[in-house]
Amino acid sequence: MSKICVIGTGYVGLVTGTCFADLGNEVTCLDIDKERIGDLEAGKMPIYEPGLEQLVKQNVAADRLFFSTDYNEALTGAEYAFIAVGTPSGSDGEADLAYVRSAAEAIADHVGESILVINKSTVPVGTGDWVANVINRRRNGNPLQFSVVSNPEFLREGSAINDFMNPDRVVLGSVDRTAAEMVAKLYQPLRCNIMITDLRTAEMIKYASNAFLATRISFINEIANICEELGADVREVARGMGLDKRIGYHFLDAGLGWGGSCFPKDVKALEHMAVLHGTQPQLLQAVMEINRNQRRRAVMQLRKALKSLNDKTIGVLGIAFKPNTDDIRDAAAIEIIHMLQNEGAHVRAYDPQAMENASRVLKHVTLCENPYQVAENADALVLATEWNEFKQLDFAKLKATMKQPVILDGRNLWDSEILKKQGFTYMGIGRGDLTLKENR
Ligand SMILES: NC(=O)c1ccc[n+]([C@@H]2O[C@H](COP(=O)([O-])OP(=O)(O)OC[C@H]3O[C@@H](n4cnc5c(N)ncnc54)[C@H](O)[C@@H]3O)[C@@H](O)[C@H]2O)c1
Repeated sequence: MSKICVIGTGYVGLVTGTCFADLGNEVTCLDIDKERIGDLEAGKMPIYEPGLEQLVKQNVAADRLFFSTDYNEALTGAEYAFIAVGTPSGSDGEADLAYVRSAAEAIADHVGESILVINKSTVPVGTGDWVANVINRRRNGNPLQFSVVSNPEFLREGSAINDFMNPDRVVLGSVDRTAAEMVAKLYQPLRCNIMITDLRTAEMIKYASNAFLATRISFINEIANICEELGADVREVARGMGLDKRIGYHFLDAGLGWGGSCFPKDVKALEHMAVLHGTQPQLLQAVMEINRNQRRRAVMQLRKALKSLNDKTIGVLGIAFKPNTDDIRDAAAIEIIHMLQNEGAHVRAYDPQAMENASRVLKHVTLCENPYQVAENADALVLATEWNEFKQLDFAKLKATMKQPVILDGRNLWDSEILKKQGFTYMGIGRGDLTLKENR
């Protein structure tokens, strides 16, 4: 059993802390957000993540998981301090390290003699060395025995617990091999691949992985747009490609593009690092531009179908950036809603889990309680997030309440033939069979 402090109780920190507690360690999850810690102490989850509430409760009851806003309390006796705070985009696309800095300074202020500092936040290459400097400067001659280990996180929101407990790999980077091996011990019960590298390589593995996944999505979206013009069906194209073992089928779903708390800021930050160091990240730039265009294209399709968007009512199904999360950071729905509003449209929207977050961000949007309310008097419906509960809607009921039966299926979720038979004007993504072929 090890004593662990996890700094930051967001999607990554709370899952990390809870899972390490479940593996038998004593964990204190610390956050500067008093409301968040108060909620957690009262058994209320600050985020929606399937299975998390139950796991937190079990480990709190077993006296292995604790919450605190007090660095002194959380770090006393801790052998490991995981930094899992946010690293949002700064004004030039760089990763903003302000939260990481304050976490590192707090470690310097509150640890007695020794600690292992583990960076779980996604941070620019070189940040591990920078964190060590921040700590050393802050100690101001009062020596602290510590090493910094980079341990990038690859979990996905919506399946975070399973991803943490069954990782494809754990990456650990450090200039101090013994320190990396100490962190590896925490992961040994998972019996997974553990890769030990130098610090900078570990930091880069995270950025390169996210950028590659975003690239695959932008690639298939570009193919989708070509399919649409040439009369091919991108879903079948992706399936045909994916059966090739060299390609595989993951992250080849055409749609409204990638979003969320990671891909947008991480691709931007990698591009920023590249430009800063004199290289030309043309592919990354194209990947981002294709993604922006995917949202614009959806709005253009709607404008075309409805002649103008001014004064039209558009219903949006799904606000979270993907199903099974309440996270709306950089969600396609949010961007599309803003574009629709800029063109004078009235927007109605619903999401199974993200309504509370949406209400904080969306202005002048009618937030509804279910998909059927969204459809009331709508000139068009847009499917922005492919939640399970949207898979089998009563389309006759939807159509009966809509002003115009127009659907933009932004995630290629529905059977176009069935919807067309029911009298809908159906638009998918990259479904050229439905547009050009018919007009020939
Ligand atoms: N969300 C994901 O799916 C995911 C996946 C992999 C990696 N990451 C990376 O992990 C990091 C955390 O992401 P997240 O989504 O969990 O963030 P988040 O915004 O959900 O949570 C961050 C938490 O850190 C707290 N915090 C900020 N400064 C603090 C400080 N000085 N001391 C204590 N707490 C502090 C905030 O109050 C907040 O609760 C980011 O770098 C992100 O890129 C995220």
